[in-house]
Amino acid sequence: MKILVTGGAGFIGSNVADALIAAGHDVAIVDNLATGSLANVNSSARFYEADIIDHQRLEEILDAERPDVVSHHAAQVNIRVSVARPLFDTSVNVLGTVSVLEASALAGVKRFIFVSSGGAVYGEPLVIPTTEDTPASPISAYGAAKLSGEHYCNVYRAVRGLPFVILRYANVYGPRQSPEGEAGVTSIFARLMLQRKPCTIFGDGSKTRDYVHVHDIAQANLLALDKGEFGVFNIATGRQVSDQQVFDSLAAAAGYTEPANYAPFRAGEVSRSALDCTRAREVLGWAPTINFDEGVASVVDYHRADLGLA
Ligand SMILES: NC(=O)c1ccc[n+]([C@@H]2O[C@H](COP(=O)([O-])OP(=O)(O)OC[C@H]3O[C@@H](n4cnc5c(N)ncnc54)[C@H](O)[C@@H]3O)[C@@H](O)[C@H]2O)c1
Repeated sequence: MKILVTGGAGFIGSNVADALIAAGHDVAIVDNLATGSLANVNSSARFYEADIIDHQRLEEILDAERPDVVSHHAAQVNIRVSVARPLFDTSVNVLGTVSVLEASALAGVKRFIFVSSGGAVYGEPLVIPTTEDTPASPISAYGAAKLSGEHYCNVYRAVRGLPFVILRYANVYGPRQSPEGEAGVTSIFARLMLQRKPCTIFGDGSKTRDYVHVHDIAQANLLALDKGEFGVFNIATGRQVSDQQVFDSLAAAAGYTEPANYAPFRAGEVSRSALDCTRAREVLGWAPTINFDEGVASVVDYHRADLGLA
């Protein structure tokens, strides 16, 4: 299949592009390199440095490529940026998404895979693990924008007949995740620990997240190419891991012996999260395969090599 991946120079998009290429697909990537890197771009992919908000350019690229599938990963991904700069977040995550949807509909795309966030759209969840049928009630601009993107997928289905699949990722971690941003606590801690620097936990360490490895995310994307049309799927493990557990697992893998520092909890973040992935198992035939300790070891190995400590 011919597949265009937006955000394919970023952490998740590049891992997804690699998996698509390894499975024999023909891949093009659109990315403005805001947080992504050319070093992540698979050499077998055609790369377009472009901003998804630049609709005319996007239309030209889609018209030239005529992909069967668009996998929309490009986004402003930092929750704290979304709280501090909601207009910027909305421009990339709402207007940018509509821009990609519009160009996809015009180019006759057969399937639009929209990457949403299960950690953000449900808000403070009423039920854990949270199912897709739980009412969405985001508490950050980022979550509101992702939910809006989901609604626009429905709009493009209704008015333009564009088929979609929505994947609501839990907290994704693994090799290539940037330690620069706020989202990748495993990368941030792994790097600090390997450099023997202090690590700060925001809150008392009890905040939980559902950590799913990027390898498993890539497999879900392969399955979503031809399964689950018009479905919304949590891609997650169903298991809560606390910030303290993240710190302890990484410390064990990195041989770090210092205690954590603690700072006040940050606005816009939910206190507990884990997602039910039964629907993904039943409809897509997907299940997570990498447990947290195994996954954490892959993160430490990646950063050890990146820091030249291997
Ligand atoms: N990391 C997570 O835990 C997580 C969880 C749920 C959902 N997601 C979603 O997965 C997707 C990928 O996130 P990631 O963690 O790999 O982050 P990332 O920052 O590594 O990737 C985002 C990519 O989008 C590109 N981009 C940003 N703005 C753009 C624009 N205006 N035009 C073109 N490209 C642009 C960036 O340069 C980057 O390569 C995002 O849609 C994110 O919301 C991530």
